[in-house]
Amino acid sequence: MAESVHETILQVRDLSVSYGPIQAVKQVSFEVRAGEIFGLLGPNGAGKTSTLSAVEGLLKPRSGQITIAGYSIDSQALEAKARMGVQLQATSFQPELRVPEILRLYAGIYGVSLKEGKVDQMLEGLKLQDAAGKRFGELSGGQKQRVTLAIALIHNPPLVLLDEPTSGLDPQSRRQLWERMEAMRERGHGILLTTHSMEEAESVCDRIAIIDHGRIIASDPPSVIMETYRNDPEVIKASRKGRITLEDVFIGLTGREIRA
Ligand SMILES: Nc1ncnc2c1ncn2[C@@H]1O[C@H](COP(=O)(O)OP(=O)(O)O)[C@@H](O)[C@H]1O
Ligand SMILES: [Mg+2]
Repeated sequence: MAESVHETILQVRDLSVSYGPIQAVKQVSFEVRAGEIFGLLGPNGAGKTSTLSAVEGLLKPRSGQITIAGYSIDSQALEAKARMGVQLQATSFQPELRVPEILRLYAGIYGVSLKEGKVDQMLEGLKLQDAAGKRFGELSGGQKQRVTLAIALIHNPPLVLLDEPTSGLDPQSRRQLWERMEAMRERGHGILLTTHSMEEAESVCDRIAIIDHGRIIASDPPSVIMETYRNDPEVIKASRKGRITLEDVFIGLTGREIRA
């Protein structure tokens, strides 16, 4: 990859997103560097997907600036989009297409030429050899998830965006995906993922931003957030079995009220 490690690959500055009168994202700022996994951690409705949609250029922010590898998603959209990979929902794919057909289709969309043997190589890398002849609709959840991730990476983008990539996966598939993300990080990709799993934030994220009601309320490595708040009685109101966890900090910062 051309971009060197630790360089800022995504910069979000003072981002605000509204849907009519609803302010979903309020003056959010953060950056993702090459070679790091950055997590946006927040409860349902916090504004995670809205933030990602603005980064993807799918919705126009009310205000703020977003640059990808230095290119503005607003005024240099083609250059910016060429440098990011987005994991699409499995429902975006035609269920009757076979996996190699899907890979070729998206390679074509991104202008990537798949040389002889490349598709087999990709299937092998995804541990999908057995699924090569199957239709997308016949795959298991974990297999579909691997195909959507492969497509996000097909043009080797420096920035990879994953919206709740592990929700609904079993522990084995989740662990495998974490390892794939770590391998992507080793290759110098910057990864922005959203999650509401503390375990995920602690296990794979180098840095996280806790977002709630559209605002970032803490942004640091998970261990630093823990250390900052673990002895703060204003934040830690309760813990389970006497052991304070990142989840206690998260609940302390975002409240106990259940979100729709
Ligand atoms: N298309 C939309 N129209 C109106 N309101 C929306 C739309 N998408 C999201 N919202 C609202 O914006 C807020 C943030 O939503 P979202 O970004 O999807 O949160 P998250 O991904 O963290 O669950 C919520 O209050 C949600 O109801
Ligand atoms: Mg969401």
